[in-house]
Amino acid sequence: MTTQRIALIPGDGIGREVVPAAVAVLEAVGRRHGVGFSYDEFDWSCERYLSEGAMMPADGLDLVRGHDAIFLGAVGAPGVPDHVSLWGLLIPIRRSFQQYVNLRPIRVFEGLDSPVRAAAAGAVDLVVVRENVEGEYSEIGGRMGRGFADELAVQQAVFTRAGVTRLVDYGLSLAEGRRSFGSVSPPARTGRLTSATKSNGIVHTMPFWDEIVAERTALHPAVRWDQEHIDALSAKLVLDPARFDVIVASNLFGDILSDLAAAVAGGIGIAPAANLNPPREFPSMFEPVHGSAPDIAGRGIANPIGAIWTAAMMLDHLGHVEAAAEVESAIAGVLAAREVRTPDLGGTATTTTFTQAVLDQLGTR
Ligand code: NAI
Ligand code: MG
Repeated sequence: MTTQRIALIPGDGIGREVVPAAVAVLEAVGRRHGVGFSYDEFDWSCERYLSEGAMMPADGLDLVRGHDAIFLGAVGAPGVPDHVSLWGLLIPIRRSFQQYVNLRPIRVFEGLDSPVRAAAAGAVDLVVVRENVEGEYSEIGGRMGRGFADELAVQQAVFTRAGVTRLVDYGLSLAEGRRSFGSVSPPARTGRLTSATKSNGIVHTMPFWDEIVAERTALHPAVRWDQEHIDALSAKLVLDPARFDVIVASNLFGDILSDLAAAVAGGIGIAPAANLNPPREFPSMFEPVHGSAPDIAGRGIANPIGAIWTAAMMLDHLGHVEAAAEVESAIAGVLAAREVRTPDLGGTATTTTFTQAVLDQLGTR
């Protein structure tokens, strides 16, 4: 039996409620597929920040460097500025482990009605490939004249040839591996790539992004591609989400688009994400898209789908492809039965009841 060493960081708020749900599903599907897991749990969180002055210990990165993967719930709590929790934990992990792809798939499941009329179940199946270590989320900049009328803040976006190239290449190889894209005619042999840009308004970095996208796509003639300005793309994602397949986007655009896509699919509680280091020099990190949801934390009603689907992405990354597919179809099965769902999806189920329904569904396969 293979044993996978997982670093668990439940974090804050509902992160602590959805991580146990994902672990229960991993255990169950692992038993069926001969995969064992050993977990090292870390209390890195805003609570730790408040008591010890840091989100994680100084040698934190070294403590998780040797794991096969990192599984994180969510961090963030009232009383700790959000940039402290993000820059004290998530961003150092993403950057030190060169997790330069943030992969965020979205599907409209049967039985889960989208708030968007155009989003039929089965028709929406897209992936946002977000650049995860540079771009608009940079440390370069500063503030001057604090408190004065002429106070100013400058924040520099950083786009590198290497950074954009590897991200676009990842999107292209993902598109090449995806099924024929249903709504185009004649059906394409591969998936389709859309580049999110804003080269009309942002005159240096975005034209550079566009040039690299054009260079890299030219090397993959089988993949159909187009580019859209982020504002128009946002509108199209709501009006006609089925036309999209693989969307490559900068750090900021990808962050916003993936929450939008999650909302189109029925809610942010279902959306999974993987922070990938594709060359596998470092562990990758898996975390649902949602945050710590302080408004519902502690009530046991958080939707665990995002975390459970994230666990399936982790299984897939670790090479347990069948186990991953089983988890995803167990989620789909529970939703299609239209009986058990958490309050964010209009139901009354608790996190535990929903998780049990997924476990029962796994058992019937
Ligand atoms: P959020 O995702 O925590 O919540 C947004 C809304 O969606 C809330 O109304 C919440 O109740 C609901 N929601 C989110 N996940 C849900 C789930 N699984 N089930 C049911 N409802 C769910 O985003 P928000 O409110 O902007 O941020 C709250 C805190 O989380 C902040 O401190 C923020 O910095 C942090 N955050 C952390 C992230 C991470 O750790 N990766 C990502 C996003 C936000
Ligand atoms: Mg986000």
